[in-house]
Amino acid sequence: MKLKDSSIVVTGGAGFIGSWIAEYLRADNNVTVFDNLSTGKKGNVPNGVELINGDIRHENELIKAFKGADVVFHQAANVQIPLSIENPSFDSDVNMRGTLNVLEACRKNDVKRVVYASSSALYGNPEKIPTPEDTIPNPLSPYGLSKLTGEYYMKIYSSLYGIETVSLRYFNVYGPRQNPDSPYSGVLSVFSKNIKESRGLTVFGDGRQRRDFVSVKDVVEANILSATKDNVSGLAFNIGTGIALSLNDVISTLGRITGKNLNVIYRERRQGDAKKSCADISLAKEKLGFTPKVELEEGLRELLKS
Ligand SMILES: NC(=O)c1ccc[n+]([C@@H]2O[C@H](COP(=O)([O-])OP(=O)(O)OC[C@H]3O[C@@H](n4cnc5c(N)ncnc54)[C@H](O)[C@@H]3O)[C@@H](O)[C@H]2O)c1
Repeated sequence: MKLKDSSIVVTGGAGFIGSWIAEYLRADNNVTVFDNLSTGKKGNVPNGVELINGDIRHENELIKAFKGADVVFHQAANVQIPLSIENPSFDSDVNMRGTLNVLEACRKNDVKRVVYASSSALYGNPEKIPTPEDTIPNPLSPYGLSKLTGEYYMKIYSSLYGIETVSLRYFNVYGPRQNPDSPYSGVLSVFSKNIKESRGLTVFGDGRQRRDFVSVKDVVEANILSATKDNVSGLAFNIGTGIALSLNDVISTLGRITGKNLNVIYRERRQGDAKKSCADISLAKEKLGFTPKVELEEGLRELLKS
């Protein structure tokens, strides 16, 4: 399958990752965004892309929106882990039921392929790092569980109904348009905002915690590969870089790029924060041909410019 002249729907396409998927595909395809604008913004939806203001909790709205669609990129979700802990039923309504609604609407419209935004959160605190996909999942929050459930639905819809489904377990995605305003936003979007406003950077813990930071450009590439490769239906892939950097490493890179002596405030480590997280991306390399291209320094420069 080629992604040209295709009819594409991006759920959550007014958000950070979904809006970049829409942006990269809009030139050669007919792209529609389906989003309830709960955390996303109208202004993120690229020019020339239709926005349907709808909610994935309502299957009938999805059925209408997916008419004639060839591929659906399912990005819409409750993305806040603390909210999932506070209100597991809400998280389940959006992330489990919502994902099931997306698949049902695909089944009823003969959509050929669905690419699903899953998360490394389903691993919990894995012993093996870099973590391969066959690690036994151990989600530590309702969010991690709902993402895992979504993956199982994807797999079952692939085997039972012949819809081609691919799940992507994103690690720490960063880039322009990531919302820095929630206290649980991606750390790099918060750092970037604080630097632009000449404020200090807050680190929870000693800064030696390591994360696999992957540029949204590489994540878009992984989505496009997942929509077009043969023999990947029903599978789940890690999407990261395979490199774990500490927050202290990242801060020194930011200092070098900006030429500033950054003021760092160390606060108590947050409960539940993993010490280290890193993707084993061998399967994505082998089956999808995925190779992350954006090095952190280049990605950070772009983020600071945005
Ligand atoms: N950013 C990361 O590092 C990361 C890591 C792992 C997984 N993910 C997953 O990637 C996907 C995209 O995340 P993001 O970082 O772009 O977040 P985001 O908040 O920017 O985007 C989510 C979008 O979904 C929309 N949405 C939420 N609930 C909806 C509903 N009920 N109906 C319709 N639209 C709804 C929001 O308005 C928003 O535009 C999510 O599924 C998230 O769980 C992200």
